[in-house]
Amino acid sequence: MGRALSRVGGEPLSKDDVSRLSFRRIVLVGFMGSGKTTVARLLAEHLEWDFVDLDEAIEGREGRTIPQIFEEEGEAGFRGIEQEMAEELLSRDRMVLASGGGWPCAEGRLEKVPEKTLTVWLQVSPELALERVRGQGVRRPLLEVADPLGRVRSLISARKQYYEKAEWWVDTEACSAQDIVSQVIERLHADLERPLRS
Ligand code: S3P
Repeated sequence: MGRALSRVGGEPLSKDDVSRLSFRRIVLVGFMGSGKTTVARLLAEHLEWDFVDLDEAIEGREGRTIPQIFEEEGEAGFRGIEQEMAEELLSRDRMVLASGGGWPCAEGRLEKVPEKTLTVWLQVSPELALERVRGQGVRRPLLEVADPLGRVRSLISARKQYYEKAEWWVDTEACSAQDIVSQVIERLHADLERPLRS
């Protein structure tokens, strides 16, 4: 047995457990404010894998912020850049990726992730999503409208069909980021007993 990794919550995974997981990377999907970045960072720390945030990677490569890209290229331009960056990142192993809220929302997107990628949907209600986004103070171009809650509701209902393609779903309502990480870790333990994919 390898040494136990730092305990975030739940039964910790040992290094040996991590090396026996049936997948090589984890991608968190879900609406803005679902906690993807915070959870991905904690999970990566627990697994001793790399943490990558898709929006940050895009901003780093482009030398422009996400709102600037929306302004200069429009949403369609941003989506092209986003997918190019995601494809490149998804070739990496031992990584937890926090995707952008709109990234999985294209026909066949989650079905086409490379083999041995675990996709996890962090579910959040429109009200909580908006509350969290407002608390973060980070600009979200798609929510800069007269009725942001109405926009969040309609986006979530249109996107649900894509998020649902994720392999695992975790309800984040009334849960701290640590609780969510614990839930994922519990399921990773189960995966050790019943491998997901060959
Ligand atoms: C978007 C979500 C944002 C960012 C961009 C568009 C979306 O990422 O990619 O503002 O379409 O839902 P987060 O989900 O990390 O906020």
